Amino acid sequence: MRKFIGIGVVALSLAFAGSAMASNGAGLFKSKCLACHGPDGKGTAMAPAFTGNAWVKDSSAADIAAVIKNGRNGSAKKYKNFALGMPPQGSLSDADINALVEYMKSLSN
Ligand code: HEC
Repeated sequence: MRKFIGIGVVALSLAFAGSAMASNGAGLFKSKCLACHGPDGKGTAMAPAFTGNAWVKDSSAADIAAVIKNGRNGSAKKYKNFALGMPPQGSLSDADINALVEYMKSLSN
């Protein structure tokens, strides 16, 4: 009997871990990126939108991850209409960056 309860608890916690992971990208985006990239990645006067963004849609996860990690400033800047560049997000783990890339890919379609 005890064994069955144990298995139930494991299954339940896996289910919760799964849903937490699915929302991780959106949650991270809200806390770290929304101020510039806007609610739901729709863009602001500070930074480009990810909704309908062809570069995000067509680029590899590695290329997008590199921009998040290293930022894009100075001569590397692509857009002329934003005063500031993209600040490097060095404190994010690879798992966090992957979750963000996945979230941005879902917005770009
Ligand atoms: C201080 C404002 C700011 C914050 C905060 C910010 N960004 Fe950016 N981001 C920018 C700007 C400005 C650009 C455009 C840079 C350029 O001209 O190439 C940009 C560009 C990007 C690009 C490239 C888009 C493209 O079309 O080429 C990605 C990807 C990106 N940001 C992801 C993120 C993620 C993920 C976060 C949160 C972890 C984030 N940004 C937080 C300002 C910001």
